[in-house]
Amino acid sequence: YTAEIDADDIEKGTYAHFMLKEINEQPAVMRKIIQNYQDDEGQLKIDRNISEAVKEADRVYIIACGTSYHAGLVGKEYLEKWAQIPTEVHVASEFSYNMPLLSEKPLFIFISQSGETADSRAVLVNIKEKGYKSLTITNVQGSTLSREANFTMLLHAGPEIAVASTKAYTAQIAVLSILAQVAARDNNIDTNVDLMPELAKVTTAMSAIIDDADRMEEIAREYLSETRNAFFIGRSMDYHVSLEGSLKLKEISYIQAEGFAGGELKHGTIALIEEGTPVLALATQENVNLSIRGNVQEVEARGAKACIISSEGLEKEEDTYVLPHVHELLTPLVSVVAYQLISYYAALHRDCDVDKPRNLAKSVTVE
Ligand code: G6P
Repeated sequence: YTAEIDADDIEKGTYAHFMLKEINEQPAVMRKIIQNYQDDEGQLKIDRNISEAVKEADRVYIIACGTSYHAGLVGKEYLEKWAQIPTEVHVASEFSYNMPLLSEKPLFIFISQSGETADSRAVLVNIKEKGYKSLTITNVQGSTLSREANFTMLLHAGPEIAVASTKAYTAQIAVLSILAQVAARDNNIDTNVDLMPELAKVTTAMSAIIDDADRMEEIAREYLSETRNAFFIGRSMDYHVSLEGSLKLKEISYIQAEGFAGGELKHGTIALIEEGTPVLALATQENVNLSIRGNVQEVEARGAKACIISSEGLEKEEDTYVLPHVHELLTPLVSVVAYQLISYYAALHRDCDVDKPRNLAKSVTVE
């Protein structure tokens, strides 16, 4: 299905790599999402059948793989914090064996850039047999998961060619935030968030980071050019982004990278910290700002070289980079752009094949 594709979308143009092009497209994708999910009065708008299905559900089960799974972790926060719907996030391949006890009226949300991932499809087939409702959030209209689910929400991100997912991740999070805000509105919950203007601020913040690409390159050079391993830490929303940041880095640079909850590193993995081990820490959440900085001190005391990326308003003198301020729950949309660029340059410095990393496929159609 190619209706949304035009020639520009599948050419690199002036960009050295599709990945860089797709990172740079993120502000435009945000604008497209804002356009597509609001009505003429600027109110959030999604298909009524979808909002009704969400309203009827007593629990949401998000099923996904890889980067889409990481977007699901962020989406759960929106559905629970804004819409007050209990939500679980599951890795698709594990779901069949470790199936949780389901609630009475579950709604399944499949998140998949390609809409073709076999592990996710296996779960969809299984839950359809049981008669449960499903929504697919995908970039590809007419994809298998889109055709087989009851409902679809599109990412409007344009084709994503680079194997490492970038603009699909931020698009997934933005669409999930819209879904959760609509669900909150339907349930008369005042979240105190005017989402579309907040997403517009995200768009500007993304552009500011993209304009700072040279700085991201320096950070990659300083922290990641020599190392064999790296750790990403964060708490709360920053934990989810740390998982995605570490996945980006390992996918394209082959540096062994792990994401951890700030409080968890000390329960074992801190044993791996040596003189000069890079630890990338995010500090965008006010309520955990002191604790994550405490974790940074713990690893620094063991020789780690810490790169702290904070948010405007929470920054301290020692920080490596300060992200523009956005709504606290929307920070993943912004902080991840820094990690995408840092990973991209780390891979470039190592002469890696950025767009087609070894052993990986863009969509995995076998279980
Ligand atoms: C593959 C890709 C990943 C992607 C995952 C899920 O492993 O290499 O980048 O996150 O599949 O893909 P999906 O299309 O379902 O989002």
